[in-house]
Amino acid sequence: MAASPLELQPYASLDDDDCRQRILKAKQTLGERVVILGHHYQRDEVFEHADFSGDSLKLSREAANSKAEFIVFCGVHFMAEVADILSRDEQVSILPDLSAGCSMADMADLQKVEKAWQELSQVIDPDESVTPITYINSDANLKAFCGDHNGVVCTSTNAQTILDWAFEQREKVLFFPDQHLGRNTGAKMGIPLDQMVEWDFDQPMGGLTKEQIRNAKIILWKGFCSVHQMFKPVQIENFRKENPNGKVISHPEASYEVCQMSDYVGSTEYIIKTIADADPGTDWLVGTELNLVNRLHNQMKADNKTVKFMSPTVCMCSTMFRIDPQHLAWVLENLVEGNVVNQISVPEKVAKSARVALQRMLDISK
Ligand code: 13P
Ligand code: SF4
Repeated sequence: MAASPLELQPYASLDDDDCRQRILKAKQTLGERVVILGHHYQRDEVFEHADFSGDSLKLSREAANSKAEFIVFCGVHFMAEVADILSRDEQVSILPDLSAGCSMADMADLQKVEKAWQELSQVIDPDESVTPITYINSDANLKAFCGDHNGVVCTSTNAQTILDWAFEQREKVLFFPDQHLGRNTGAKMGIPLDQMVEWDFDQPMGGLTKEQIRNAKIILWKGFCSVHQMFKPVQIENFRKENPNGKVISHPEASYEVCQMSDYVGSTEYIIKTIADADPGTDWLVGTELNLVNRLHNQMKADNKTVKFMSPTVCMCSTMFRIDPQHLAWVLENLVEGNVVNQISVPEKVAKSARVALQRMLDISK
């Protein structure tokens, strides 16, 4: 029988080195029963313990293929939900700190999306003409909405492939919650900006006229990432003045203007690979989260490559940062004791529909 769970509080006073030893020991005891998945934005003291690291797409696939009894997700809430949905019933998905959410994901909720769908139906027949696409940075019930309405999930890696698929099905897309990923991907596909309209979820009819809705190819939810909105064109201009041969690479959650000015745009995995594969001695300006950029900066020194963070102010994903070695040690030692703490469990009714949209994404973007 499981003992009562170890309290979190004593772990708060452990220093990172103590935690490190305890995490290593717990991992060794648990062996193949546990897998730790780590998103690229995790701080180094957590990231070093990941059995697999990656962007959202890669980690979804790892979760779906994992045989471990426990999947400890060092990332944010929606990622641990995806792991629960895609893993087998008997597997357990764990988020070391339950307050690790995603502020962008919080900008869309089921009630608002259902209201938008209903309002759209006053102008067009959305079930006939609109494919709902949710960015993976969203609640499970929005993925379920997409599963129930012939829609699909996308990530920053496969957004274009998913949009191509969507336009083969229907003439329009409702894209939520990130306006920037939707707009940047649509622009890359040659869709004019005036056919990508912004749905302001606080306004009746999204603040759009009937004509704008009828003419739109992509209806973009007015959500954004608070980290990636810190990157500005002037930061790129300043870098180019100082480094005329330097290269700029950004995540597609950055604004249209920033992405247009960048030499490369792609997911966290793409950013890492592009810089790793670049010639020695090259200079890079990177528009994505600070922990990842700092790690790249240190790793690339050996190749004499310089890697700079785009914003002059320190901006990191504060929710990703909530996963610290103390919480990781706490959940792992509880598993050793036979206790599951911080399980993320999506109700089966929601999970069933969400799985349809997620599986569709995995099948389309093989
Ligand atoms: P990636 O899928 O590119 O890792 O992006 C996840 C994310 O939340 C970026 O802010
Ligand atoms: Fe969400 Fe932005 Fe953090 Fe990514 S960086 S997890 S989009 S808040």
